[in-house]
Amino acid sequence: MRGALTVSKMMIKNFLLPRGTADILPEEISRWHELEQKARIVCKNYGYREIRTPAFEETELFARSVGQTSDIVQKQLLSLASQKEGDGSNSPLSLRPEGTASIVRAYLQHNFIHAEPISKFYYLGPMFRGERPQKGRLRQFHQLGVELIGPAKQNEDLNLAFLDAEVIGLCVQLLRSFGVKGFKVKINTLGTPQDKQAFSSYLRKVLKEDLKSLAEEDQKRFSENIFRILDSKKKECQQIVKKIDFAKGNYLSDFSQKYFEKAKSALRDLRIDFEEVPYLVRGLDYYNHIVFEISHEALGSQDTLAAGGRYDTLVQQLGADPQTPFSALGFAIGIERVLLVADQPATPTAEVNVFVLAMDEKFLQPAFCLVNELRQAGISADVNYQLGSIKSQMRLANKRGAKQVVIFGEEEMKEHAVSVKDMEHGQQNKIVLNQVVDYLSKIFIKKG
Ligand code: HAM
Repeated sequence: MRGALTVSKMMIKNFLLPRGTADILPEEISRWHELEQKARIVCKNYGYREIRTPAFEETELFARSVGQTSDIVQKQLLSLASQKEGDGSNSPLSLRPEGTASIVRAYLQHNFIHAEPISKFYYLGPMFRGERPQKGRLRQFHQLGVELIGPAKQNEDLNLAFLDAEVIGLCVQLLRSFGVKGFKVKINTLGTPQDKQAFSSYLRKVLKEDLKSLAEEDQKRFSENIFRILDSKKKECQQIVKKIDFAKGNYLSDFSQKYFEKAKSALRDLRIDFEEVPYLVRGLDYYNHIVFEISHEALGSQDTLAAGGRYDTLVQQLGADPQTPFSALGFAIGIERVLLVADQPATPTAEVNVFVLAMDEKFLQPAFCLVNELRQAGISADVNYQLGSIKSQMRLANKRGAKQVVIFGEEEMKEHAVSVKDMEHGQQNKIVLNQVVDYLSKIFIKKG
């Protein structure tokens, strides 16, 4: 018998959550709800509406937007193993690593261009990247993102720089509303697509000399997508990058310089402190003009809380009329990272307004019915079906934060009544059973 037990024990597998994912436990969920609630209020104040898109899309959508040579597409996409016949398409599918590509896809698919001059979306949800997990870096994480997309009246419009500042301002406002302090805003400009090309040629020229001293991975970046070198994590590469004289490159057009100046001046109007970081290029291919990151020292190596920028040409790359110029920009905030640094307490236990105790098994049935009636009347209530002494059951009621306790006792039930105890003031009243819901409704519903 003993042997049999050991074998069956050995055969039972204890399942653990997949690496790089996290259970959000009930005692933590209040922080998520609070953050989500604040996010909805702030986004609404800025004129954004919520959008929800699927958790997976065609792999090609991410390759065409985030970039074929980006780390996200090359190393981190989590693809679905097989598609069943009858799916309607044989295109490979992947879990979304970010939200921007899906939102632009949805913008085009649902013809928002004809519905409104400018579309302002926000989204909240899980994203998936097959990264090596560490503090602040998960394989399933959550983003709160906003995207602002619409046709532009002309190709070059300096006034749109107000929008860049406004979007950065929204990101800052959201972080503040979540109770995050001490973050840093870093900004840069990549200029127009032509400027970006000139920037890339300049980098190629200045980095050529150092090519041999770069790690193999960075040499690959040099030939495939030189901007990736600027966000290399390798120390020797970072030192080489620090020596680059970006100003000397002179790759920004007159318009791009003015645009950057105007965006910075608008940020100053909003009283947002920022640092200009010329090697900030972001690890996603779709950006042009202003890019930004918001970081927090306390996060350690994964210190970026939020990031974003302008991606005007992506809308056309994903199928919009090439004759129509677009203005498109946005950002995403990493929620897990925010919760690591936000000054916001968690609620440890679930609270109920009313706790119902039965002092004998025969009272469980009326207690069961009463708790159901209370909930239907909109009063949060719970009951203990495991019986116990009055002392132990009162302890349970206290633990649950109950404000009123209903006691089904022998004496009271002889008169078809129960005792209702006010836990704050200690006073106890005998109430006829069929009037208990009314009695408690007056206390709780009136209070709201
Ligand atoms: P991203 O920089 O890739 O940009 O991600 C934005 C934020 O998501 C990061 O700053 C970070 O807080 C969080 N994040 C990213 N990867 C992880 C991870 N593995 N674990 C935990 N948190 C993570 C984007 O996703 C762009 N779509 C942002 C954007 C929107 N640009 C324009 N519109």
